[in-house]
Amino acid sequence: MILVYIILFYLNCKKDVYGSPFPQRDLKNVHNMKSLIVIDACVRQSDSRTLRIAEPVIEALAQRYKITRYDLPELDIVPLNPGLFKERGQGEIPAWAKEAASAIAKADRILIAAPFWDMSFPAVLKCFFEQTSLFDITFTDNGKTCVGLCKAPKVLFITTRGMDISTGSEVEQATPYIKALSRLWNLGPLTTIAAQNMDYSTEHEIDEKIAAAVAEGTALARKW
Ligand SMILES: Cc1cc2nc3c(=O)[nH]c(=O)nc-3n(C[C@H](O)[C@H](O)[C@H](O)COP(=O)(O)O)c2cc1C
Repeated sequence: MILVYIILFYLNCKKDVYGSPFPQRDLKNVHNMKSLIVIDACVRQSDSRTLRIAEPVIEALAQRYKITRYDLPELDIVPLNPGLFKERGQGEIPAWAKEAASAIAKADRILIAAPFWDMSFPAVLKCFFEQTSLFDITFTDNGKTCVGLCKAPKVLFITTRGMDISTGSEVEQATPYIKALSRLWNLGPLTTIAAQNMDYSTEHEIDEKIAAAVAEGTALARKW
């Protein structure tokens, strides 16, 4: 009996270090899944209309992708200040930023959920990009210009806007910024799913707009 306990204990330790000692089809599939990075910049958290669209889309994508999620409002992310900038020059980069940048560089897909704030997106998202846009991780250079080191061929941006402003309007500055950063990092084409005029719609209209965006997002998730 004691021998059985010792063997079970050994197998359990081995599982923690090397993964399950028993062949399990589901686990194998998880390991083979492509990776998706979710960047959530929805500052209003559970009150967020943007998250009401993003969550079902993320749930649908979880069937096909192994997800690493960064919920920015829960993290203590600051802009690059003089201290951090000096440390970066000395090669000292916060461990979390290095890890997130490496995960982004390796990811197969990127999904960003952020509301429309001040004609763009909340500052915490810019701070996150500033901290994770790292030389020799997300981009490098070839002596003449910058070259992206990421590989995700597709990026999805989910947003809601208070005013009646459409994606592509010259005053909508979130989509163009994410496109520009995608160029620096070598990310593929961006799809934006948006609901607009949210602050000037009835509750019923808001629900309808959210339902339409969820339908668009979950349909996309099946083939994205
Ligand atoms: C700080 C702040 C700034 C905002 N700036 C804008 C803006 O510039 N243009 C706009 O159309 N709506 C703006 N809005 C309204 C939001 O875009 C809108 O309410 C959106 O649906 C909020 O998304 P959320 O519920 O995911 O937080 C702003 C809201 C907040 C709280």
